[in-house]
Amino acid sequence: MSSVNYRREGDIAILIVDNPPVNALSMAVRVALLDLIEKTDTDPEVKGVVLIGAGKTFVAGADIREFGKKLEGPSGRAPYEAIEASKRPVIAALHGTALGGGLELALTAHYRVALPSTRIGLPEALVGVLPGAGGTQRLPRLVGVEIALDLITNGKHIDAKNALQHGVVDELVDGTDFDALLRGALAFARNVVAEKLPLKRVRDLNEKVTGIDSAVFAKYREANAKKWKGLLAPWKIVDCIEAACTKPWDQAYAFEERSFNECKDSPQRAALSYIFFAEREAAKIAGISPEVKAQPVKSVAIVGAGTMGGGIAMAFANNGIPVKQLEASPEALERGRGIIKQNYDTSVARGSMSQSKADEAMSRISGTLSYEEIGACDMVIEAVFEEMSIKKEVFGKLDKVMKPGAILATNTSTLDIDQIASATQRPEAVVGTHFFSPANVMKLLECVRGGKSSAQTLATAMGLAKQISKVAVLAGNCDGFIGNRILGAYGRQADFLLEEGATPWQVDEALKAFGLPMGIYLMRDMAGLDIGWRVRKYREQFRDKSLRHSLVADRICEQGRYGQKTGAGYYKYDGRNATPDPAIEQLIVEASRELGIERKPISDQEIVNRIIIAMVNEGARIVGEGYAARAADIDVTYVYGYGFPRYEGGLSGSG
Ligand code: 3HC
Ligand code: NAI
Repeated sequence: MSSVNYRREGDIAILIVDNPPVNALSMAVRVALLDLIEKTDTDPEVKGVVLIGAGKTFVAGADIREFGKKLEGPSGRAPYEAIEASKRPVIAALHGTALGGGLELALTAHYRVALPSTRIGLPEALVGVLPGAGGTQRLPRLVGVEIALDLITNGKHIDAKNALQHGVVDELVDGTDFDALLRGALAFARNVVAEKLPLKRVRDLNEKVTGIDSAVFAKYREANAKKWKGLLAPWKIVDCIEAACTKPWDQAYAFEERSFNECKDSPQRAALSYIFFAEREAAKIAGISPEVKAQPVKSVAIVGAGTMGGGIAMAFANNGIPVKQLEASPEALERGRGIIKQNYDTSVARGSMSQSKADEAMSRISGTLSYEEIGACDMVIEAVFEEMSIKKEVFGKLDKVMKPGAILATNTSTLDIDQIASATQRPEAVVGTHFFSPANVMKLLECVRGGKSSAQTLATAMGLAKQISKVAVLAGNCDGFIGNRILGAYGRQADFLLEEGATPWQVDEALKAFGLPMGIYLMRDMAGLDIGWRVRKYREQFRDKSLRHSLVADRICEQGRYGQKTGAGYYKYDGRNATPDPAIEQLIVEASRELGIERKPISDQEIVNRIIIAMVNEGARIVGEGYAARAADIDVTYVYGYGFPRYEGGLSGSG
């Protein structure tokens, strides 16, 4: 079977790209397309061509799996050039997601029609490349430079209505499926043929790329310099769009090809593509039958309206799912609601959300003090204080009221899921859903498999991530699960570095220069040092005394320095501004002396190496012990939960 099917309806040829699951433009598709364009160009019976994707989508891009491979065959650009040069009008019919090389293909067609639900974009930068088939040259000619810069450097999608407004598509076709789209595209093509409409080429539209001040590009680079630190593709995209405005077509088009190849051949592209597939792999649950499908969660209850409960409520409400928040008192409920309202107000003030979207989301969140009122929800997520006795009491109550089949989830970050599940008569329905703070922003959802969690419970909890625009990983029920267990190893190594000669600010700076958003000591100060201190005191009885143990963290807490909230921790604070504190350096020097450690200068490279290796080792142990199914899950956890640089390919790439 060919990956592009051919048929004719009267004098219109129909080319259907059929390369499941997303009709990626693999070598086989490129070869078939080239053959068929030659055929339609030379067949006197053919007067027009419709190019469409089989199933649910148009072409979603180049085949990312081919990037690292040496393939024999026509150049990547050949089918694009053939379509643009075709003697018959080619009408691209878009549905699903027309992305990357897919949108570029459509931009070489002479006309484009789309279903209203179509989304288009050039997301190449997210996988480490840039649009390499004319996207940086053609899109600005339609949408203008400013919008093209934003869309392409950020890899944003836009909807069909927006695309129509900007002339990226010529007409929207009524309907929701392939058949409706094909009917609409055929009617459009017949009209083009009947009216002898011209073979329009986007490359000939020069108005929007003429007379652009070079300051536009300089300003854009400057504004994004921090965000693009360590990245290659976004910088090159700006260069290419600038070339579209300053060089003749042939030169700028060739420049784009060279820039694309530079990105494609970089280690960064390999790392970013790896993360793309790792994220999709992590969503798959090892050891359960593919027959078990995630059940959509249509309503959720959240117990506890504190920091996490509030953020989790927003994550659901923002994605159209109604939320019932349950609290212990009317005051707590009111306070929690107030914070959510404040967060939405801030988003509106910043311009990241419209007032109507914020109002809609807010209206999806209601409060209650009664367990009976939440019983009909598909899922409940507990986010009360981190105390086993309270969690068990809550789960006992949930067991009594939740409908059969409901998922009973806990947001605990440290406690044993099985003990929590033991408070119910249905441990198979219990699972960990560990969100990261702020839960409405952070992308990771670390699901935790209890000893008795059923396959259905796991599938639904993992599937939920997609519904609320998050990325899921599945961890086993070990201390700290995946994320915090590795964070423990990271912190331990950092503390040893302090005692051997480093300072908190040197460690933080070195990690930031490496690419982490924030160093460990600033992070600890922000989260509050007292929580960890309480946990350490409790765990002191179980600690293996033969292993090296740092004194610094406890000493700091003993001075009442709990971080930002007390104005002092590892750093001293003026509001949120941290400055190094000589008193802490003194405290560390004393700890070194007491432990008999001779302090010596430690290089930034040694700091980064030792911390990353400690993290990699802990990750390997987690996989070895079966608490993570694969190394990729560790990478996904660190990229999405802790801001570990994607372009390093997570811990696997850096270790
Ligand atoms: N190449 C190869 N495989 C791809 C792919 C691609 N471009 N896009 C998706 N896939 C695979 C996924 O790995 C997954 O495989 P699996 O089932 O074996 O895990 C399967 O297709 C389905 O993907 P999703 O699970 O992501 O399905 P969704 O329905 O959630 O999303 C999508 C579909 C929006 C198309 C999303 O997959 C996506 O964003 N894909 C990447 C699009 C992209 O980056 N395109 C640009 C590529 S680079 C390029 O085009 C260069 C050009 O300029 C020359
Ligand atoms: P928080 O102290 O901000 O909020 C807890 C809320 O639970 C309070 O509003 C309290 O009134 C309510 N509550 C307490 N007992 C209750 C009961 N019996 N019934 C109903 N409501 C009750 O705590 P936070 O930070 O939101 O943490 C909640 C859970 O999330 C904990 O298990 C914590 O370990 C976990 N977590 C916290 C993270 C964080 O960064 N704060 C990150 C990930 C998980």
